[in-house]
Amino acid sequence: MKLKGRVTVITGAGSGIGRASALEFAKEGAQVVVADINEAGAAKTVRQIKTAGGEACAVKTDVADPDSVRNLVKETLNAFSRVHVLFSNAAIQINKTVEDTTVEEWNREMAVNLGGVFLCSKFFLPHLRKTGGCIINMASVNGYFVEPMCAGYCATKGAIIALTKAMAIDHGKEGIRVNCICPGYIDSGLAWSYFEAQPDPAGARQTAGKLHALWRIGRPEEVGRVAVFLASEDASFMTGSAVVVDGGFGSGLAPQG
Ligand SMILES: NC(=O)c1ccc[n+]([C@@H]2O[C@H](COP(=O)([O-])OP(=O)(O)OC[C@H]3O[C@@H](n4cnc5c(N)ncnc54)[C@H](O)[C@@H]3O)[C@@H](O)[C@H]2O)c1
Repeated sequence: MKLKGRVTVITGAGSGIGRASALEFAKEGAQVVVADINEAGAAKTVRQIKTAGGEACAVKTDVADPDSVRNLVKETLNAFSRVHVLFSNAAIQINKTVEDTTVEEWNREMAVNLGGVFLCSKFFLPHLRKTGGCIINMASVNGYFVEPMCAGYCATKGAIIALTKAMAIDHGKEGIRVNCICPGYIDSGLAWSYFEAQPDPAGARQTAGKLHALWRIGRPEEVGRVAVFLASEDASFMTGSAVVVDGGFGSGLAPQG
């Protein structure tokens, strides 16, 4: 129970890594606000948490919309009176080159992935300051090791790493820690969409596994447990860190084959 009574907001918690993280946080005693644009997905996460004996509520949220994020803050305080942890995890991925990406797709990807981190941080910071809380942002190994056919996505993840470090500097004196996580391939929605966009989706999935030193892609809960660590007192002297959870994707020693 490393997070007993810690109120935690997780965006994009209606599926994938966000949902697995929500379950891990609840297991450690956190009260979880499941924020997602997908209402049904968010409700399912809340059901799973409650079935396991945890405490959670769902708030339909579009992280790209300032009014929707303001409402998320309001609903969080209505439900639990305070907030200790913000985990900005929601993202979309346009699997295209810059030339093929439409202006609308580009703007939406920037608004959700990077804008969402900005808006959630901006509107939750005054409340996190009161509790000495912390922020975790979801970046990716694609923030520094880029791959073909997802240029805008890579750009947002690189920017999130820089934004994390900038916020850590701005808010460290206030006792607010800000870190981000850089996963390798994880068996969840955005990796699936990337595989589907390749000419041979099954082959792409197999090849992706072999890009990691551990010769497999990761499981969502393997990222969720690192998020729990970053939110806990065990990480009390960590801020401005980009924590790599990539099964050796970035080691430079990954076997090809
Ligand atoms: N899966 C991977 O291989 C991988 C690797 C590195 C980083 N990541 C990052 O992990 C995070 C989660 O990825 P995932 O694979 O679990 O994806 P996913 O598609 O399973 O989950 C993303 C969730 O975000 C929600 N969402 C989308 N737009 C939203 C918006 N505007 N407002 C609120 N919610 C919104 C979706 O409804 C969905 O529930 C993302 O930030 C992604 O970039 C994933």
